Amino acid sequence: MTFFICGVPGTGKTSIVSFLKKDFPVIELGNVIKEKRLYTYFDERTGSFVINEKEVDRVARGLYGESVIIEWIDLSFLSEQPNGVILLRTNPIVLKKRLESRNYPDSKVRENVMAELLGVIRKNLSDKWHDKVIDFDTTATSPKEAAEAIRDIITGKSQPKEVIDWLSIMDPEELDQLIGQLDSFKSHSDKP
Ligand SMILES: Nc1ncnc2c1ncn2[C@@H]1O[C@H](COP(=O)(O)OP(=O)(O)OP(=O)(O)O)[C@@H](O)[C@H]1O
Ligand SMILES: [Mg+2]
Repeated sequence: MTFFICGVPGTGKTSIVSFLKKDFPVIELGNVIKEKRLYTYFDERTGSFVINEKEVDRVARGLYGESVIIEWIDLSFLSEQPNGVILLRTNPIVLKKRLESRNYPDSKVRENVMAELLGVIRKNLSDKWHDKVIDFDTTATSPKEAAEAIRDIITGKSQPKEVIDWLSIMDPEELDQLIGQLDSFKSHSDKP
């Protein structure tokens, strides 16, 4: 059994798998990528390393066990066929606050909040695995509660079919304000 847990930075992957680790073997792919230096270059625009997908896939193939959870931002490049993919989603207004509290540069906050708002990872994952992808909202729960609900999804106790589209859920005025704030991040230089 292989489950993927994905989501843009700040949606809660690490916090949630820290609870799931007690019940399932977890591979935090970010750690593997860092240890084995499986990245190609640093992208200034996104403020993150671009990974060598072919190499990561090759290394990951050697790590699958009988049952495993793999955690990384977007796993749509892996050749493994997962039993399910749980995509963590966070209201973009809340996500922006979480990322700002990490003191990320404005360009990195903007890039990730826009990706969440537009459902970029959702599209990548569902283009490949269709209805195996389940959105899980981490906006209002605690990481522990989220982990318990995700445990039930993995064990088949619950079978939600949620698809989250922030553009249709969010209040138009709040959306307008958020996009205005993100836009202003383009017009001034990044904080160091
Ligand atoms: N329901 C929730 N589930 C998970 N995290 C939550 C939840 N509610 C609030 N949080 C908070 O959001 C933050 C998520 O950070 P975390 O490092 O887990 O994200 P991540 O997805 O692993 O990011 P990265 O891709 O940068 O590693 C934490 O500060 C966590 O306490
Ligand atoms: Mg993490």
